[in-house]
Amino acid sequence: MPDLDPPQRQATDALMLTGFWYRALPADRVHRNQLHKATLPEIPLVIGRDRVGQPFALRDSCPHRGMPLNCGRFDGENLECGYHGWQFDVHNGQCQLIPSLTSDQNLKVDRIYAGSYPCEDQDGFIWVYIHDPGAPGAGFAPPTDAPDPAPQVEKFTSKYKLAYLQADMPVSIDHGIIGLMDPAHGPFVHQAWWWRTQHSIHEKKKNFEPIPNGFRMAAHTPSSNSAPYKLLRLYADADSITTTIDFVLPNIRTETIRAGKYWFSSLTTVTPITRSHCRIDVVAAWNLFRWVPFVPDVLKFVFAKFVEQDRRTMELQAEGLKHNPHLMLIDDADRPAKWYFQLKAAHLEAKRTGSEMKHPMQGPVTLRWRS
Ligand code: FES
Ligand SMILES: [Fe+2]
Repeated sequence: MPDLDPPQRQATDALMLTGFWYRALPADRVHRNQLHKATLPEIPLVIGRDRVGQPFALRDSCPHRGMPLNCGRFDGENLECGYHGWQFDVHNGQCQLIPSLTSDQNLKVDRIYAGSYPCEDQDGFIWVYIHDPGAPGAGFAPPTDAPDPAPQVEKFTSKYKLAYLQADMPVSIDHGIIGLMDPAHGPFVHQAWWWRTQHSIHEKKKNFEPIPNGFRMAAHTPSSNSAPYKLLRLYADADSITTTIDFVLPNIRTETIRAGKYWFSSLTTVTPITRSHCRIDVVAAWNLFRWVPFVPDVLKFVFAKFVEQDRRTMELQAEGLKHNPHLMLIDDADRPAKWYFQLKAAHLEAKRTGSEMKHPMQGPVTLRWRS
């Protein structure tokens, strides 16, 4: 009899974590001297690039009376609110001018700030650091820096290709994430003649280990039942192909495949937009088949197909979730999902108490499932 846990109510809790970097927009969509809207954990943002191309992110709300700043005028340096013309430096949000002030009114304009967020261009995406709520930023406090730089796709050679894919998911961040790490849906959702069929389902055994803020599926030789891996082994003329998959809070899945001198690496994020809506962004880098024409297109096609299958599944799942059903997580196939919820809880607890985070995994664990 498998271990059946009581319904996991937490699976419907769309609590979104702050104090992390999130991907906001693909970098190639944000042009100089232009303004774009974005939403990250329910915070309205206006994102743009100044006249030299440096990205910025401000809260899309004027600190005066809340007018969305994206409707304002932008000269490549300062953003002017469309209501009363207050002007703000786009990089730190500092107010530069209040046109209604008379020469004898000495309101200290430079002490007023529009909410401003650290912003970085990284691997084809504009990343924004979302502070904890209540942190300095809006009103009268200057912006604060992010504690670390934005995450990067791991690369192993100086020459490589890079591509990205996006998919909107009409589910909470939690369902987006546990769907991403779920090992049991493959044979049912990702069927294709060139990948695998339902009949190829077989027992798997994988080793997992704790890493800071997350867990790792230790380097292993990937499923021998998939054609692309067979092809890769042949092409790379490598005795072994190893895959390492990590998950780290709040939303990052990295996968690294190495075969001799060739590598493929991806950094996937599930970004919380609202409580009931998230977005998957996959960025992949590779040095495989770099000079062979069409291969990047084929790779992109394969990836796009996978992501679309996941998106479609979650769209259907969202229908079922509307009625707030009881849910369950089973061992071992749903154990990664359980770790995710435990990591999240441990992270929040550590934050609440100011103590060090207690990792939910004691040490390495072997999980078994059929897929
Ligand atoms: S609301 Fe922006 S200047 Fe008044
Ligand atoms: Fe999937």
